[in-house]
Amino acid sequence: MSRALEGKVVLVTGAGSGIGRASAHRIAAAGAHVVISDINAEQGQAVLAEIAAEGGQASFLRADVGVEGDVAALIAAIVARHGRIDGAFNNAGIVQTGKRLHEVTTEEWDRAIRVDLSGVFWCIKYQVLAMLETGGGRIVNTASSLGEVAIANASEYVAAKHGVMGLTRAAAADYGAEGIRVNAILPGIIQTPVIDALAQNPDFKAFLVKLRDRHPIGRFGQPGEIGDAAVWLLSDQSSFVNGAGIPVDGGYLAI
Ligand SMILES: NC(=O)c1ccc[n+]([C@@H]2O[C@H](COP(=O)([O-])OP(=O)(O)OC[C@H]3O[C@@H](n4cnc5c(N)ncnc54)[C@H](O)[C@@H]3O)[C@@H](O)[C@H]2O)c1
Repeated sequence: MSRALEGKVVLVTGAGSGIGRASAHRIAAAGAHVVISDINAEQGQAVLAEIAAEGGQASFLRADVGVEGDVAALIAAIVARHGRIDGAFNNAGIVQTGKRLHEVTTEEWDRAIRVDLSGVFWCIKYQVLAMLETGGGRIVNTASSLGEVAIANASEYVAAKHGVMGLTRAAAADYGAEGIRVNAILPGIIQTPVIDALAQNPDFKAFLVKLRDRHPIGRFGQPGEIGDAAVWLLSDQSSFVNGAGIPVDGGYLAI
């Protein structure tokens, strides 16, 4: 097991489930103190207990990334406790409504943009403010294949994730010279609880088969496969990677 993040302090948002949970495990196994953050305290505490049981270094701080004050307080609490924040995986996000654009309400649009896009903006903003004080850091954002291409019935999610790619590139341009690298991961379909729940519903069986066949590798991804990419982007092993969107999608964007 590589200890590529030995001694680092790394935040993971949305770490209570799915991609964030698996990534928090990987980041702790790579030697970091992982700050697990999630809107759902029960899930976050459960992940904290799992990592502690494996001998990893971790703590939990609740925050709603869709509330600027929560994000500011989260980063301030990390700096107060550790003196710095070396890395962040801005991963918290919510799934789309499944509606065509004209059916999406303004409330649904606002919520998707607030959590999936403004949440990433606030995270980068307060992380950068802390990292500039300590000479640099690494930021990784979770976009999606839908940060580069669209599918039907997901306009607010597609728009937000395209925005995450824009923010990633803009932040890389702003802070590259000051030792802060900012990159994004574009996951294909990953087998998280949302996908598992759909798989239990006979109405979605054909849809999921079609979706799986859109991945040339012939299967959906596992959350840990995103975690491995996050560890690499947070480590020195990716030292010349900046402003990049790395597809981890079994080839979804290749065809
Ligand atoms: N699963 C996929 O197929 C897939 C594909 C591409 C991109 N993504 C992206 O990956 C990220 C993680 O998705 P997942 O599939 O692991 O989902 P998930 O639902 O399993 O986990 C998301 C976590 O984020 C938390 N969360 C939700 N809203 C929050 C908020 N406002 N503040 C803080 N935490 C909040 C939830 O409580 C949950 O623990 C999301 O950004 C999602 O858009 C997922």
